[in-house]
Amino acid sequence: MLEIIMTLFIGFVLAVSVVAVVFKDEVRSTRERDPAATNILEILLTYAGLHALILHRIAHVLWNMKVPFFPRWLSQFNRWLTGIEIHPAAKIGKGLFIDHGMGVVIGETTVIGDNVTLYQGVTLGGTGKEKGKRHPNIGDNVVIGAGAKILGNITMGDNSYVGANAVVIKDVPPNSTVVGVPGRVTKQDGKKMETMLDHVHVFDPIMQKIEELQNRIDNLEKDNK
Ligand SMILES: CC(C)(COP(=O)(O)OP(=O)(O)OC[C@H]1O[C@@H](n2cnc3c(N)ncnc32)[C@H](O)[C@@H]1OP(=O)(O)O)[C@@H](O)C(=O)NCCC(=O)NCCS
Repeated sequence: MLEIIMTLFIGFVLAVSVVAVVFKDEVRSTRERDPAATNILEILLTYAGLHALILHRIAHVLWNMKVPFFPRWLSQFNRWLTGIEIHPAAKIGKGLFIDHGMGVVIGETTVIGDNVTLYQGVTLGGTGKEKGKRHPNIGDNVVIGAGAKILGNITMGDNSYVGANAVVIKDVPPNSTVVGVPGRVTKQDGKKMETMLDHVHVFDPIMQKIEELQNRIDNLEKDNK
């Protein structure tokens, strides 16, 4: 009996050590970005985002080897286990951190760069109108807030932030912050885009025409005096 327990314990320690080495970038990014993450063992055993990524890496290798059915099954098993749905064909860089995770959906033709952070409820999906490459490309160091939807074959530039619950349907330049529905850039390269949020001083073409006509009338009246 003691032998069985010892064998199981050694197997467990070995498995955890291998995962810690193979997924060192993801463990590092979790430690860096989640103040609640206190130690490596806790990250390895309790973070659903990391578990989803481990299963996705296996499914992705099998998908690339053109193994039938099993990668899709593994992806669904992953969803059942973690609440995170990642198509086995999705390409994901190193250091991805999925915080909380429940409800995250990553579509088939999505490409994710390095050191990206996704919060719960993020969808990297299609608009429903496109075929072929129909999911987004996410640059390096991008942070996508809870519930945000990035839809279509669009590109999110490196180092960008997407606010919680935003719906992004157009390309986003690097170093930007995007909020709202539809998503609009509110900050770029550290500078606030004041005019973007100014709904009072909007351009009004009719008012401009009236002002031009008033100027002409004023000038004509002046000439006739
Ligand atoms: C967008 C975000 C990254 C902040 O970026 P920031 O560049 O610091 O933006 P600011 O706080 O300066 O806000 C800029 C403007 O956007 C607005 N804004 C901020 N977040 C917003 C959001 N999610 N949706 C709509 N508007 C938002 C602000 O009210 C502000 O408007 P104002 O200029 O009219 O006052 C942050 O608000 C956010 O949504 N982070 C997601 C975090 C998350 O999902 N956490 C989940 C943890 S479980």
